Amino acid sequence: MKEKINLFIQDSGITREQRENRNGANAFTIWMTGLSGAGKSTLSISLERWLFNNSYNCYRLDGDSIRQGMNRDLGFSKVDRAENIRRAAEVCKLFNDSGIIVIASFISPFSEDRSIAENIIGKRWFHLVYINASIEVCKKRDVKGLYKLSSEGKLKDFTGIDSLFEIPESTSLTLNTEILSETASLNILIQFVQTIITGK
Ligand code: PPS
Repeated sequence: MKEKINLFIQDSGITREQRENRNGANAFTIWMTGLSGAGKSTLSISLERWLFNNSYNCYRLDGDSIRQGMNRDLGFSKVDRAENIRRAAEVCKLFNDSGIIVIASFISPFSEDRSIAENIIGKRWFHLVYINASIEVCKKRDVKGLYKLSSEGKLKDFTGIDSLFEIPESTSLTLNTEILSETASLNILIQFVQTIITGK
């Protein structure tokens, strides 16, 4: 990558802490990873609602929506996925810096890209949540019909089929949605988020 020169960052003097204080909570990113159909979007939507209903400033970023706007130039090759995750992480960082809690929901199948995201957002603010469901179960759920398309040869580079998903070796939280009900998963997630907010 070309080195960027002649760039000057000017600081307004307003700190992240001041923004967090005004918002009444510390800002961080819950980064959800997992196969298509594992339950990332469902849980992230419910978590966003819970945070919002409890007066926390929060925002949800989701692969499907980000890819229709900011990342519309990107596909599903390894290189494009890396760029997708890098840009998404930069957005999370900006939101967090503005004092807003982010729930990021991206397949983010590669360990290297997840760790780049962690470095961009900052280790202390990045919480990796693995939404775990096996490929067999995701195939059965097939909410969007993408597994069917893939099996018919109509969708290339589909994660878990002809593109790799690297299971995270270490996570802040893992939710097995094969075993846990939606409500049980959400309750665990909320408890986890509360410990981050309260610092306990
Ligand atoms: S990634 O791997 O993190 O860059 O992907 P992400 O930005 O999360 O986008 C995943 C959503 O894109 C749709 N989709 C595909 N996913 C995986 N592989 C292929 N080839 C593909 N094509 C389209 C799909 O709706 C994914 O959303 P989820 O919510 O995971 O099902």
